[in-house]
Amino acid sequence: MPAQKSDMRPLSNTEQGYGLVAVLLHWGMALLLCGLIGLGLYMVWLPDVGFDQEKILLILVHKAIGMAALAGALLRLGWRACNALPALAASLPQEQQVAARFVHLVFYALMIALPMTGWLMSSAGGYPVPLFDGFSLPDLTGLNEDHFQLYIAVHRWLGYALLMLLVLHAGAALHHHLVRGDDTLRRMWPRG
Ligand code: HEM
Ligand code: HEM
Repeated sequence: MPAQKSDMRPLSNTEQGYGLVAVLLHWGMALLLCGLIGLGLYMVWLPDVGFDQEKILLILVHKAIGMAALAGALLRLGWRACNALPALAASLPQEQQVAARFVHLVFYALMIALPMTGWLMSSAGGYPVPLFDGFSLPDLTGLNEDHFQLYIAVHRWLGYALLMLLVLHAGAALHHHLVRGDDTLRRMWPRG
């Protein structure tokens, strides 16, 4: 019987390409992070006056999903550390390879820094970080109004930075796919 050609990826990365686990983590996290940016921008836009049930509920949901994103980022970093790092497309000029690697590194830093500043902000402001029914994370710092305001500002600007990089990164991927017609986006697609 002739050998069947399979177009599924291997689970782990190889020197040539991303494995299925890295691809699923990439798209799962992309979805989570886009949702968190959208939710974050929407909830701070809601009026602050009075006892706004919707705003409070959305902030709690944002916190819980944000902490899940921290767990996902650590899982992803761990997986990347014990896997081969696939080479970027050989057709990419040297300076674009450096830029792409730099953006990937900054993404990892933001995936850790955003939830951590969210957690620090909540601790400094005296607000809990509930994960699920009856269980909250411990405070990282004591109450401090100045630090509370500082963490809010840092969290906000890191969120804007993530959004800007996302537009750049997705724009570059789509440009490669639609204009140049190369393999860049297919390298990150589940069916390769
Ligand atoms: C990767 C994860 C996260 C992303 C991408 C993210 C993104 C954002 C964004 C874009 C905003 C709106 C900022 C503004 O325009 O002022 C925001 C606000 C906020 N985030 Fe996050 N966030 C994340 C994780 C967390 C976590 C883990 C917590 C808490 C444990 C948290 C707590 C908050 C709070 C309380 C606000 C409202 C701050 C205010 O009142 O101005 N976030 N977030
Ligand atoms: C917030 C959302 C996103 C984040 C944080 C993110 C992050 C990353 C990171 C860190 C890598 C390097 C590989 C790895 O370590 O997994 C990567 C690769 C890639 N991403 Fe994203 N990404 C996001 C959204 C997107 C979107 C929306 C697209 C497409 C429209 C995209 C297309 C790609 C492609 C094609 C690669 C492979 C590049 C290559 O090595 O040739 N990403 N992304």
